[in-house]
Amino acid sequence: MNTVQAPIPDTTPLTGINADEALWYKDAVIYQVNVKSFLDSNDDGIGDFKGLTLKLEYIRDLGVNTIWLMPFYPSPLKDDGYDIADYQNVHPQFGTLDDFRTMLREAHRLGLKVVTELIINHTSDQHPWFQAARNAPAGSPQRDFYVWSDTDQKYLDTRIIFTDTETSNWTWDPVAKAYYWHRFFSHQPDLNFDNPQVIKAVLKIMNFWLDMGVDGFRLDAIPYLVEREGTNNENLRETHAVIKKLRAAIDASYKNRFLLAEANQWPEDVREYFGDGDECNMAYHFPLMPRIYMAIAQEDRYPIIEIIQQTPDIPESCQWAIFLRNHDELTLEMVTSKERDYMYTTYASDLQARINLGIRRRLAPLMENNLDRIKLMNSLLLSMPGSPILYYGDEIGMGDNFFIGDRNGVRTPMQWSPDRNAGFSRADPQRLYLPPIMDAVYGYLSTNVEAQSRDPSSLLSWTKRLLAVRKTTQAFGRGTRRFLRPGNRKILAYLREFGEDTILCVANLSRSAQPVELNLAAYKGRVPVEMLGRTAFPPIGELPYLLTISAYGFYWFRLATDAAIPSWHEQIVSVDERPVLVLFDGWMSLFRERVVPWRIGIAEKTRAQFETDTLPRH
Ligand code: GLC
Ligand code: CA
Repeated sequence: MNTVQAPIPDTTPLTGINADEALWYKDAVIYQVNVKSFLDSNDDGIGDFKGLTLKLEYIRDLGVNTIWLMPFYPSPLKDDGYDIADYQNVHPQFGTLDDFRTMLREAHRLGLKVVTELIINHTSDQHPWFQAARNAPAGSPQRDFYVWSDTDQKYLDTRIIFTDTETSNWTWDPVAKAYYWHRFFSHQPDLNFDNPQVIKAVLKIMNFWLDMGVDGFRLDAIPYLVEREGTNNENLRETHAVIKKLRAAIDASYKNRFLLAEANQWPEDVREYFGDGDECNMAYHFPLMPRIYMAIAQEDRYPIIEIIQQTPDIPESCQWAIFLRNHDELTLEMVTSKERDYMYTTYASDLQARINLGIRRRLAPLMENNLDRIKLMNSLLLSMPGSPILYYGDEIGMGDNFFIGDRNGVRTPMQWSPDRNAGFSRADPQRLYLPPIMDAVYGYLSTNVEAQSRDPSSLLSWTKRLLAVRKTTQAFGRGTRRFLRPGNRKILAYLREFGEDTILCVANLSRSAQPVELNLAAYKGRVPVEMLGRTAFPPIGELPYLLTISAYGFYWFRLATDAAIPSWHEQIVSVDERPVLVLFDGWMSLFRERVVPWRIGIAEKTRAQFETDTLPRH
């Protein structure tokens, strides 16, 4: 299908990177945005595409190169748009299809790629397909768009995902007089991927957005497409077969697009979503995320090393997507129950902060607003293997409000300025889709883009700097990864290597200063250059390389073959410790006996200084 299509849109090369275009997602740094939360252009209290378009330069200037947009399609919005009622349109609250096109064109002009959501596991129960299905005769192709049963006792080995709201994956429909299957909310019936008509409809939706120029899709809730009795209905072979079809259709007609799998599964199961390089180009590393939090809470690198070691290799063309926070709860599905208890007591002692199997908080509050910890977390996010995803607002350390229900507490308006409604909207405050954060620590009066843009030491300025540094090498996105094993387990150290570049990352996971001795014998003679300050450190020698790192500190070093050894390194006594002559009678003293060594190094001084500095005799 799709032999006739719009010309492949001009996708501007990524800024600052010599991207091999087909693999551009390996160099991607993704910024996750909710259109409704970013900027309200027409003062109705809801963010929209015109508003987002106005803020694209902000996103570009941050130093990311890709935007992931949460759902913006017509929807009853009972699951924030993950309940779609029309796949090929824009919810009027957010604007029109033309507004979307303008935003996309502008993003591409600025060198930003745009990734959208392809939510195909389920629709809203308001989707015309579901309305037709429930009214169509049992067994008809229309009815078969969804998964029906006469009993709710089928597929009993399937877990419930939204444990706080749902008690069954089946809901009775009085119109169809049958139960329908849903892995999420009961208003989100699952599509039936055993029906070829469903696959055809999905391909049509994909082509619609790809023709418009969208650069990739996040495949929402992808492990659950197909059901089979006697299984847990996750990651089935039949589901993978569907994904292979979607991928083949993209490859047949489009260039430089990608599929990102949202598969909240163990590493060996997620691995399958890459196939032989013929399924998804990218997949989230769900198990790594909570373990970064575990490691920093326990002051021990073990959780991170262990999970990375359990992670199988992936095909050459594939890439992990890594993240610290997103619009959902910090999911604890991929940890053991002991680890979950630990995470809950450490990070969600307030029971209100917990939802389903996770924690509904943002990064800054999880780090108790400790700037060093926030920076350390970001340094890990930006240096571990994969393409990092930043959640909007986390770059300024926005807070959350878990009293406003579901996961809305982490979806509040972006805080642009200390003006009314955080500069997000000029609507009456009570009209806003959600109240902005207003407390004294994280509220928009103290935490906002305007203030942080003016402050060179703000989190925002620092984040920009770190992103700019990350861009100077492709080793972070594409390089190999090797852990070092220094005796001090509070230190996480790893090497990222790509082509000529060798980057050494060293992170202190603990709340106190730590020493570490690193075995870098293989790099003897190289000069570690700290990448943020471009400071050369003493060259690597025979002995273990000794570093001291402040509490929650981290270093990224380029192990340079071409950098000069710091000039002070070989000097036994530094310049300001050399003996100095004090000449009591000016120059004449040189011809007398009373010449006394003193503190300041005259060797370095010009004649003029020498004369001024010389103490006259009284
Ligand atoms: C994904 C989304 C989540 C949504 C769910 C159901 O997990 O991230 O927000 O509720 O799918 O569509
Ligand atoms: Ca609006």
